Amino acid sequence: MKTEFAPSLLASDFSQLKDQIQLVKDADYLHLDVMDGVYVPNITFGPGLISSIRKHSQLPFDTHLMITRPERYIKDFAEAGSDILTVHLEATDHIHRVIQLIKDQGIKAGVSLNPATSLASLEYILPELDQVLIMSVNPGFGGQSYIPQMTEKINKLNKMIAANNYNCKIEVDGGIKTYNLKEIVKAGADIIVAGSAIFGAADPGKTLSEMRSIAADV
Ligand code: DX5
Ligand code: ZN
Repeated sequence: MKTEFAPSLLASDFSQLKDQIQLVKDADYLHLDVMDGVYVPNITFGPGLISSIRKHSQLPFDTHLMITRPERYIKDFAEAGSDILTVHLEATDHIHRVIQLIKDQGIKAGVSLNPATSLASLEYILPELDQVLIMSVNPGFGGQSYIPQMTEKINKLNKMIAANNYNCKIEVDGGIKTYNLKEIVKAGADIIVAGSAIFGAADPGKTLSEMRSIAADV
């Protein structure tokens, strides 16, 4: 399967969002990190911002909710223009219900696992999911270092999905750069999130296409 790329807007210049979005127009998704200052120690933006940038991008919006009890806001983030909504397994008492709420909105559903969370917790929800987001840093900030143990986790998840023939993509988020991309793709990542690697580069569009060719080589 061709590796897909989801640049994270978190690392962009928020004073020029409209132009920053144009720089990555050749990506596969736009990754939108929503943080509430409770579930993670940082605050970003909400559905209002997402709906105002919706008209400036043709890309599917891949919204990553790092918020506590995400069930309260599924409708708002779907109506703002999200095409995929990913919630943290650790942020709700009723993950199965939240997945159903997302699907009821007619959009794709993803579940994210923090670095310390076991894959075992996915066993009974995996058939329902469009994607699993493996956090390869602790959520909350861009620009952190990739946690090496996550490569084995990606590999194991890839085997779990293949063994059951599930139609579920593996997205990996945090600390991904040109120098470690290969091992992550090799382990089984389908979607690569990259914030600082892309928006921190002098030419984000060029870096995106460099990353694409590295992944195509695997
Ligand atoms: C972190 C976010 C990431 C972040 C990744 O909590 O979920 O999407 O933007 O940033 P980099 O690629 O800089 O690690
Ligand atoms: Zn993210």
